[in-house]
Amino acid sequence: MEIVIQETPEAATEIAAMIVARLLREKPDAVLGLATGSTPLLLYRSLIEKKLDWSRVTTFNLDEYIGLPQDHPQSYHSFMWTNLFRHVNIDRARVHIPDGNAKDIPGVCAAYEKRIRAAGGIDLQILGIGTDGHIGFNEPTSSLASRTRIKTLTPQTRKDNARFFGDEESVPHHVVTMGIGTIMEAREVLLLAFGAQKAQAVAEAAEGPMTAINPASALQMHPEARFCLDTGAASKLQRAEYYRWVYDNKPDWQRP
Ligand code: F6R
Repeated sequence: MEIVIQETPEAATEIAAMIVARLLREKPDAVLGLATGSTPLLLYRSLIEKKLDWSRVTTFNLDEYIGLPQDHPQSYHSFMWTNLFRHVNIDRARVHIPDGNAKDIPGVCAAYEKRIRAAGGIDLQILGIGTDGHIGFNEPTSSLASRTRIKTLTPQTRKDNARFFGDEESVPHHVVTMGIGTIMEAREVLLLAFGAQKAQAVAEAAEGPMTAINPASALQMHPEARFCLDTGAASKLQRAEYYRWVYDNKPDWQRP
């Protein structure tokens, strides 16, 4: 696992944006796994500004609320079109977001896994992290081998996400999310985290034991996982100085 610590969310995001941009230039038909929430907003803004060619890119989003109409302002369909897809030349047919309104949700989940496989697997998965360590919406005690399925949000996550909905009551209880096993199959994983509220979850994920109580800790087993953090999110890492030194002294050929 590589841990990159930068002073600000903007600086940490720029490193992530360079990695995505390089992939899209080197592999114009890349398959991206995408996240929603506050964290990737800067990344999507930066990618839009880079004026990349998205015409052959395929995307799979991590998750979606169950029962929220697709045109609801807080659905992840709305989020993705508002914050990224509308601003780039992506082919609508190559965009995949789980359907949280389907009658047969287990069928939707199985089909989602199949489509990821048919696309050749995910080249690069973008992740945020919940204050409880969730990735996607794989809440604590999710199976580390899980696949796309229904999950129930924890009270903590519903409280955290109340800021988008105005009040906690309006946050749906159920979601469809890629599983941890699904995420682990991405060839490369890039987790972004900003702010001191993420520091505990990040420290446990990177330096704690691998445990289903912190689902992001499964990334310790991923051969190509990178965390891009600001100083707040990195503030509880015991070996922060070491990670900074490693990054500052990388040979040029290893730099993103
Ligand atoms: C969103 C997702 C979640 C978020 C996490 C952090 O698609 O999968 O894991 O990344 O809840 O959310 P923010 O970025 O809003 O703090």
